[in-house]
Amino acid sequence: MEKVLSFIDQNKDRFLEELLEILKIPSISADPAYAKEVRRTAEYVEEKLIAAGADDVKIFETKGHPIVFGQKIIDASLPTILVYGHYDVQPPDPLELWNSGPFEPVIKKTDIHPDGAIFARGACDDKGQMYMHLKAFEAMYSENELPCNVKFMLEGEEEVGSEHLEPFCRDNAEMLSCDVVLLSDTSIIANDVPSITTGLRGLSYLEVEVCGPNKDLHSGVYGGAVANPVNVLCEMIASLKNEDKSIAIPGFYDDVVVVSEDERGEMNKAPFSIEAYKNSLGIKAVEGEKGYTTLERTSIRPTLDVNGIWGGYIGEGAKTVLPSKAFAKISMRLVPNQDPDKITQAFQNHFESIAPDSVQVTVTPHHGGMPAVTPTDTPEYEAAKLALNKTFGKMPIPVRSGGSIPIVSLFEEVFGVKSVLLGFGLNSDDIHSPNEHYGLFNYYKGIETIPYFYQYYSDLKSN
Ligand code: BES
Ligand code: MN
Ligand code: MN
Repeated sequence: MEKVLSFIDQNKDRFLEELLEILKIPSISADPAYAKEVRRTAEYVEEKLIAAGADDVKIFETKGHPIVFGQKIIDASLPTILVYGHYDVQPPDPLELWNSGPFEPVIKKTDIHPDGAIFARGACDDKGQMYMHLKAFEAMYSENELPCNVKFMLEGEEEVGSEHLEPFCRDNAEMLSCDVVLLSDTSIIANDVPSITTGLRGLSYLEVEVCGPNKDLHSGVYGGAVANPVNVLCEMIASLKNEDKSIAIPGFYDDVVVVSEDERGEMNKAPFSIEAYKNSLGIKAVEGEKGYTTLERTSIRPTLDVNGIWGGYIGEGAKTVLPSKAFAKISMRLVPNQDPDKITQAFQNHFESIAPDSVQVTVTPHHGGMPAVTPTDTPEYEAAKLALNKTFGKMPIPVRSGGSIPIVSLFEEVFGVKSVLLGFGLNSDDIHSPNEHYGLFNYYKGIETIPYFYQYYSDLKSN
């Protein structure tokens, strides 16, 4: 391992420069106008996988954005790690809230990242974290220290629901066969408090339309006599939560796995300061489901949030209008064993049933995803634990995350293997927000930790 670490040390600057290069390409998967840039990013990843020493590197076309595959099989009798990551990013808007261009990476020091952090869209989610794997592999391969086989599957559609990865996995199950999936697309508690993510929430995402009169009306002539779809939508949305902030959709909690008091006790031992949390977000109080802590509300409990709402006049100045339509995008984060399709259906039935006769509502489902939990009594979890302990000098804490990576549950279904969520980001890295960043400490720590994971995992599997 010494040789691997010294390779990493000697190539530190280049590893950073290469990451800055990929961060300059605006691989915004949600916006069709950027399809070429997404492709260019796939080509960059392809080139760097080849340079790192991978074999059979290939860009697989899909009906959406491409998937990059590569592998190094050193001995078929050794275990195989499948590395998953995504090179697409969220749209950067609102642009005016960025202190520097989202695709012009700059390094700046912050209170939390005194060694500096890279500011760019995708720096943490997930280009920076994905790229750690290419560099860790390069270091191990160059020094002839690969203890096992490795495969890479890097996609460009994670941020839009991984629609084409599912058929790709099913169609290429043989090529992708592995003993474990390794991914870095989650966070640790703090740079001095390592953790391993043991659960992800599922997701049901949908859009609603409330349709009132057949045209926009004068709000003085008709207001008060004709239902205003924006008013109605607000009332309907407000009614989706009970006073205790639980969700008022019949059947919503039916399948929720109740977490034991013991486990909740353990969970709440994780270091967390509610004051620091509030300060960092500029809020005076937190809010959420009664009877649960903030840590629990963001991990083991399901939620419902409006992600966007619009309708009527939103231009400069005032226009007196009673709008004809109103819209909202709504997400529900799900926990084991909630089924996204069932929840979407329950939402739709309920939303239609509460609509007054004065309007018509349409519910359009978008993508969804299953929640996932990873067990802690497996060789892969043990290996991740040992690896983090080695590089951080501290045993990691298991934590359930509030985010979603829908494809993780599919890996289990299709490949019959568990995933290790070995993320290195921080929740304060502003992923999906303006000024997303990723600590240099985290980038290099990831590159150093990954080879230890390979080593410990291979050792544990051969015993
Ligand atoms: N990497 C995130 C998920 C994540 C973030 C997990 C932080 C744990 C901690 C991923 O790229 C993501 O943003 N997922 C989406 C879901 C997807 C279907 C758009 C999400 O969670 O909103
Ligand atoms: Mn991600
Ligand atoms: Mn994301």
